[in-house]
Amino acid sequence: MAEIEVIDSSGLLTEEELNEFIRHAGHLEHPREMIIDILRTVQKNHGWVPDSGIELTARILGLTPLEVEEIATFYDKIFRHPVGRHVIHICDSICCWSRGGEELAAHLQQRLQIEFGQTTADGLFTLLPSCCLGGCGKAPGVMIGQTFYGELTPDKVDRLLAELSQEAQE
Ligand code: FES
Repeated sequence: MAEIEVIDSSGLLTEEELNEFIRHAGHLEHPREMIIDILRTVQKNHGWVPDSGIELTARILGLTPLEVEEIATFYDKIFRHPVGRHVIHICDSICCWSRGGEELAAHLQQRLQIEFGQTTADGLFTLLPSCCLGGCGKAPGVMIGQTFYGELTPDKVDRLLAELSQEAQE
């Protein structure tokens, strides 16, 4: 593991975050267990994880960039490309699918005028399909940030989008 002074986080982590991760990494038997924590912090600060964030994480943990990249690309809540201010993960698993999820997905795409994987022209929303979000009892649902919204209908989705758009203008 690298010494604190030889790691330049280039603004992807605050100095405090960087020092804390390095300190914590020194006590880990399996450095991979901290990959997601670091990537999520980079994403919180930068909006998404650029190549330099992968390299930074690898340096902190004494891993290769490829080892970090394998985790980053497996985990669908880590973004390796720029995304909108709000990333909407819409569940495409069985409970949601059988309770209107498909219609909801079509409605969202039509309403936002984007396909899956795209971002609205105003940079506000990115739409991504996702496997089960853990809210099956309230299907169909979406996750935006850390919040799950369930029992959705096109009308409820419209209201949700309006609220988020309004917040962005305040
Ligand atoms: S199937 Fe959609 S939240 Fe589980």
